[in-house]
Amino acid sequence: MSLSPFTEWMAATQNRVETALTQHLPGHDCIPARLHEAMRYATLGGGKRVRPLLAFAAGELSNAAPEKLDIVACAVEMIHAYSLVHDDLPCMDNDDLRRGRPTCHIEFDEPTALLVGDSLQTLAFELLASQPISEPARQLEMIALLGHASGSRGMAGGQAIDLASVGKALNQPELELMHALKTGALIRAAVMLGALAGQALSAEERQNLDRFAKRAGLLFQVVDDILDCTASTATLGKTAGKDEAAAKPTYVSLLGLDAARDYADELRNDALDALAIFGERATRLTQLADFICHRQF
Ligand code: IPE
Ligand code: IPE
Ligand code: MG
Ligand code: MG
Ligand code: MG
Repeated sequence: MSLSPFTEWMAATQNRVETALTQHLPGHDCIPARLHEAMRYATLGGGKRVRPLLAFAAGELSNAAPEKLDIVACAVEMIHAYSLVHDDLPCMDNDDLRRGRPTCHIEFDEPTALLVGDSLQTLAFELLASQPISEPARQLEMIALLGHASGSRGMAGGQAIDLASVGKALNQPELELMHALKTGALIRAAVMLGALAGQALSAEERQNLDRFAKRAGLLFQVVDDILDCTASTATLGKTAGKDEAAAKPTYVSLLGLDAARDYADELRNDALDALAIFGERATRLTQLADFICHRQF
């Protein structure tokens, strides 16, 4: 059976990103060997690579060179991998399965997992600052954007709200803010950095791309909430049913399953509307929004 062009593109881009990550992570022979082994364990050989795929797809809007997108994709994926390692720690979600394997702190130990997160985060910024991607002002803008998306006004802030919300019933604007920060911010950064790695977009194009990125980011976490209560542990590669067991507010606990699915469709449609301005240049982004909406894991 032949694969669709989108599936082929996805597999080729995932392979490309795996190669780039392998190159940019310190090797097993680099001291301290165990920390580097744990960083490679947490980053390589798993995951859907949705953020790198978004960066490559957004790069098609601005004709960004693949070598520059490799750097953007690696930086964003390193931040994401770090966020997962910390998210799984006993002091956060206390999970022992990730990407079908024992979580980093189970396979290694908690202090190592903490340091893996620290080191992946700083390596992401080192990479983005040290490789030639764009003229200096643009490159600084990219670094600042990723910093903002990762920190207390982005992913880490969303995680803080997530932890403070256990056992609480958030209303929809509160839940939307939590999701937009903990997951949406990094997805948005992946899209914007991918586009920024190429030629400048017009102000109107940039505004529309930003609208797409925000909708796609929220969509991603709404679907994560849905899958947590509908998919199996074997399919997800992480423990299913955790949100309800841990009394986390989610779109499913707020709206119920059917309405959460309807909301996901609505977000997908909004995201696609925002891409209209780009015409065929946005084919990959359109397909990715569909993938994010309809994924099974
Ligand atoms: C899981 O992210 C954590 C969330 C932000 C919802 P992914 O579903 O992208 O995880 P991997 O990278 O494919 O394992
Ligand atoms: C994770 O959200 C968000 C980040 C890692 C920043 P979840 O806690 O829902 O992610 P999973 O379900 O463990 O992958
Ligand atoms: Mg969590
Ligand atoms: Mg979690
Ligand atoms: Mg989840």
